Amino acid sequence: LRTLKVALLGCGNVGAQVARILLEDADALAARAGARLQLSGIAVRNVNAHRDVELPQELFTTDAETLVKDADLVIELMGGIEPARTLILAALRNGACVVTGNKALLAQDGPTLYEEADKAGVQLSYEAAVAGAIPILRPIRDSLSGDRITRVLGIVNGTTNFILDQMDSTGAQFADALAEAQRLGYAEADPTADVEGHDAAAKAAILASLSFHTRFALENVHCEGISSVTASDIAAAKDAGFVIKLLAIAEKLTDAEGKEGVSVRVHPTLLPREHPLAAVRGAFNAVFIEAENAGELMFYGQGAGGTPTASAVMGDLVSAARRLVLGGPQRTETTTGHVPALPIEAATTSYYIGLDVA
Ligand code: HSE
Repeated sequence: LRTLKVALLGCGNVGAQVARILLEDADALAARAGARLQLSGIAVRNVNAHRDVELPQELFTTDAETLVKDADLVIELMGGIEPARTLILAALRNGACVVTGNKALLAQDGPTLYEEADKAGVQLSYEAAVAGAIPILRPIRDSLSGDRITRVLGIVNGTTNFILDQMDSTGAQFADALAEAQRLGYAEADPTADVEGHDAAAKAAILASLSFHTRFALENVHCEGISSVTASDIAAAKDAGFVIKLLAIAEKLTDAEGKEGVSVRVHPTLLPREHPLAAVRGAFNAVFIEAENAGELMFYGQGAGGTPTASAVMGDLVSAARRLVLGGPQRTETTTGHVPALPIEAATTSYYIGLDVA
């Protein structure tokens, strides 16, 4: 069997699990990928900060550039814009396939990365960037590529779903539910990106881009978080038979002149309690898709956490390795600009999603 060198950039919750799986499941992964996946190193900012991790210490390095130069496959799990962006571009130019979970970078600068990947004829995959363990990007890109998606509704941030669910089930105020989310380790130390909807907006841009074959960036996404949702809002919704969920929405709309556009937005939404998304409790994620021929589909699972998110990374890695072994050019994106983004001021059409389920 051929051996492919795998460079891992970042060793947080997800990175540590990816390294563990690569080492523990080496034989099974080799059989599935058609090549041995050899972890050649783990680039971190400070090697000493990883002394307690149960991974071979000799794998750790601070020299990400050198690690990337020598790799066939690069896994970027550092997060943030730089140095992740520069390292991914270097890897692609070098002919390596890249797997990343970096939703902020993809939402901000995805097109640059996709173009570089296409130019180099290598694959850039990012299943882990949206809804953690849930296989959602490949189904949209591949399984539904012969259909026309009309609407995507996603609960794509576990922290805010947990907070809203706590408020709904216990009558708690926002601040108390947030404190509980922090106590359980769901929310970040600075939970702004979660509660203000920025994390969900980055994921909405990615979902919309793949669903509507158009490149959406963060600036095309109307974004409102949940910090002003009160216990009495939740109680009033409940009395009327609704639940309030923070949804990432991407839907095709037609304006008064009959022109089609896509509205991409994140905001608290009233959902009938019978809607399948209303049943998504706690920190779980789900994505509900409506397509012309497939009808309604729902994907459900863990949207965060080291091991679940590592599952998505590993799927991308095995698939990229398989394609490297088979050879031939690889295509990352099919965003040919079919349906334009609506101007942001026209994007917010409704805070209510009806129940069309038969
Ligand atoms: N903070 C995110 C969430 C983690 O709560 O869903 C996954 O992106």
